[in-house]
Amino acid sequence: MDGKRILLIVGGGIAAYKSLELIRLLAKDGIGARVILTKAGAEFVTPLSLAALSGDKVYQELFSLTDEAEMGHIELSRSADLVVVSPATADLMAKAANGLANDLASTALLATDKPVLMAPAMNVRMWSHAATKRNVAQLRADGVTVMEPDVGPMACGEFGPGRLPEPEAIAKQIRAMLSGPTGIGPLEGFRAVITAGPTREPLDPVRFISNHSSGKQGYAIAEALARLGADVRLVTGPTQLPIPDGVTAIRVETAVEMNDAAKSQLPADIFVGVAAVADWRPATRAQGKLKLKGGTEEKVALQLVENPDILKSIGTRKKDRPRLVIGFAAETNDVEKHAKGKLTRKGADWVIANDVSGDVMGGTDNEVLLVSKAGTERWPRMAKAEVALKLADRIAAHFFDPESSAAE
Ligand code: C5P
Repeated sequence: MDGKRILLIVGGGIAAYKSLELIRLLAKDGIGARVILTKAGAEFVTPLSLAALSGDKVYQELFSLTDEAEMGHIELSRSADLVVVSPATADLMAKAANGLANDLASTALLATDKPVLMAPAMNVRMWSHAATKRNVAQLRADGVTVMEPDVGPMACGEFGPGRLPEPEAIAKQIRAMLSGPTGIGPLEGFRAVITAGPTREPLDPVRFISNHSSGKQGYAIAEALARLGADVRLVTGPTQLPIPDGVTAIRVETAVEMNDAAKSQLPADIFVGVAAVADWRPATRAQGKLKLKGGTEEKVALQLVENPDILKSIGTRKKDRPRLVIGFAAETNDVEKHAKGKLTRKGADWVIANDVSGDVMGGTDNEVLLVSKAGTERWPRMAKAEVALKLADRIAAHFFDPESSAAE
């Protein structure tokens, strides 16, 4: 990591002092930091201590004659490989989400052409406020990586999500984001094959067997991986969703087509099986439309044959097996037990399991377990889009920071 540099924007908040620890951790890896300190940030940490640790002057004013003579704010915003905001306050995120530029920090965020990482810290109610949620969603849609805050007791006496992630966790994320060959995305040069949506199994030219899968979770994962720089091949059954930017889609109808299409995209580094593949297909497909006998209520037998298990055949592949194979498991009981069974049976490295006995199916939120051979991680309830972002970050960390995963 020698020679890599971040621009660290220190916002206001009790957690601002943790930026000192962050700078120290990064320096150990040879990552330099140039610091912008906001007015509110300066209430919590002194420019002097930041300057001492970063070994550079600390930038505070938008209109400073000496700074502008040395380095203008535009140049400052582009002088690093990555821009990091820590702590990212509700105010700073609101400004960045709306493109405001009325101080040095917000101007640098608007002027930069580099990837941006934000580590939020704020009161739990501020974090869960609809306005902050909107701003976070907007920032993510704009390509900013927004970390999930930690959950715990807060300086203000309340409890919940809003604490700044630990400096070590922020440093890991920074290392992952700086690891890509171009520095644009950590998964640059990686290929990911993802299956998503339902499959349709035809009975005759006009009828099929299918399921209610919307494709939302798979498309969100495809988008999140593409945003980290991966070359994403999305093998998708019929859905109503637009193909995310930067993703190559291969549209299929049946499980057999999905199986062939997924394999045609190998070799790949990552495989994520999110599709709700129909387990069976009609044994025969009638050439013409099947006809009724005419209200006789006669029992009609439908013969089914099993479809190929795409995840299993890719997970247990001898040649060209992707380095990371991930499956999904929707269960109604004994979630962890069933997920572990699936892990072994299907040769997957990770299984993302969830309990669908509640309101998850078709809903926007999800509460999942990440199950691997080494253990189980329980993720808090979050939006499906956030599950996708977190999973993409974890995938990147798996390749660049083997110590990253508690479950590995
Ligand atoms: O066995 P079950 O259907 O619960 O397993 C779910 C996982 O296996 C998902 O990742 C799904 O995409 C994958 N799968 C598959 N091909 C099948 C059935 C499931 O790839 N025929």
